[in-house]
Amino acid sequence: MSSNDNNSNAYSDFHLQFIGGEWQKGKDDSINTDTNPYNGDTIVEIQQATKDQLDEAYDAADQAQAKWAKTTPAERAAVMYKVVSILDQRQDEIVDWLIKESGSTRIKAMVEFSSARAITLEAASFPNRVHGEIRPSNTPGKENFIYREPIGVVAVISPWNFPLHLTQRSIAPALALGNAVVLKPASDTPVTGGLLLAKVFEEAGLPKGLLNVVVGSGSEIGDAIVEHKAPSLVSFTGSTSVGQHIGELANGGEYIKQVALELGGNSPFVVLKDADIEQAVKAAAFGKFLHQGQICIAINRVIVEDEIYDDFVERFLAHVKTLNVGDPNKQDTAIGPIINEKQLKSLKEKIAKAQDEGAKMILSGEIEGQVVPPHIFTEVTREMDLSCNEVFGPLVGIIRAKDEDDALSIANDSMYGLSSAVFTSDMQKGLRFARGIRAGMTHINDISVNDESNTPFGGEKNSGIGRFNGEWVLEEFTRTHWISMQNEPRQYPF
Ligand code: TAP
Repeated sequence: MSSNDNNSNAYSDFHLQFIGGEWQKGKDDSINTDTNPYNGDTIVEIQQATKDQLDEAYDAADQAQAKWAKTTPAERAAVMYKVVSILDQRQDEIVDWLIKESGSTRIKAMVEFSSARAITLEAASFPNRVHGEIRPSNTPGKENFIYREPIGVVAVISPWNFPLHLTQRSIAPALALGNAVVLKPASDTPVTGGLLLAKVFEEAGLPKGLLNVVVGSGSEIGDAIVEHKAPSLVSFTGSTSVGQHIGELANGGEYIKQVALELGGNSPFVVLKDADIEQAVKAAAFGKFLHQGQICIAINRVIVEDEIYDDFVERFLAHVKTLNVGDPNKQDTAIGPIINEKQLKSLKEKIAKAQDEGAKMILSGEIEGQVVPPHIFTEVTREMDLSCNEVFGPLVGIIRAKDEDDALSIANDSMYGLSSAVFTSDMQKGLRFARGIRAGMTHINDISVNDESNTPFGGEKNSGIGRFNGEWVLEEFTRTHWISMQNEPRQYPF
């Protein structure tokens, strides 16, 4: 039994949509059955939203936004502070939801809760951090003003792996900066990725219509969300293939709009020969297996210099064998369930393919239900599937690099460029290596899984466009407006 089963104050009625500040039934014939990925229990059944309800949500957002944009920075900041306080009061309830709906281990649920709280607190500072500029003009008598305004209505489409955080990372800044939001959470996590946050913002007194949560299948209503006239920005986090489709729709349809795309990754974790091997082993295990490896910035390729390869492999294998696998609700579980059948099938295929391609499987285990124990493959080459594609599961390939240059060349041999990491005891070497990596983020002597609310988070190449957090997100969620003022009559040529 989870702790909030006895909590009479706990949020309920998650079978409803949140549109225009009202909780209402979905009107589509289809039902989203939200299940616990560990034991298969049905958590809630949600009648899905129709396209008419999506229109309703956009209308409500459009109307509410105009008024919200005129509120003072202090009013918007106050809502964010209230949200932080509610998150704190309801921490146990939220952590329980993350465990039962997304298969988060307790450790991961706490990491996620803390990240969502941190970005909300950071967002409370945003209303007062937006500022314009005055620029000189080459035209006599003219003054140039550059205003930063809310962008308007923002469509947010979020994934199932860090549903609370990756949703809040878009909606808190968007709302704090004077925008309204229409959010579609992932079908696997409609509560932690949307409805639960709607309850929190409602309790915090966010005016009606500013946050709308529409639960529906991406393949059914996804295109309509993106192509709708109302949103000026689509903030999408998920797979590269869906992100590419959204980019095409947003820039090739009737209404052109901006996109912020946070897509897949293939993070290299490089261990150079002078590294502290014991520390690198522990980091590799945590950065690979946190949330069963279902993180866009999870370690995807472990690249180790030849001289220490065998030593690293031996110690890594010994350490990974000590990890507890199974019930995510237990305090000491490191690896819980995979989110759904589709992802499970893809992992089984990857295990078979790695063996077919000649990788040596030095650790495996029985798959029980949706729980996949860690699988370690050695003598993996850069051409193999495990190296080229995002794994999104507890399987890891270890690649042998001839030397530092070879390690860098392997690290950069990817169509992704999200996060990365390098271990060395020589910080200058680490910095030089880090600067050689084509990625949005590189961590020296740490894992690739890092996200801080005040540093730029995002990638390049097929990992997407745009940056979250800090002042970088201020730019994403506002629009620039140049206004010039001609103070004396200008002389025109004709
Ligand atoms: P996606 O299909 O990309 O799902 C992400 C979000 O996009 C969900 O809300 C999904 O809704 C929605 N969506 C799906 N099709 C859409 C469409 N045509 N238009 C608009 N929205 C649409 O990811 P997935 O299937 O859940 O996972 C597959 C792979 O994606 C994983 O193996 C992993 O590589 C990657 N992934 C990456 C991330 C991050 S953080 N970069 C997160 C999750 C998954 P529905 O849930 O209703 O389909």
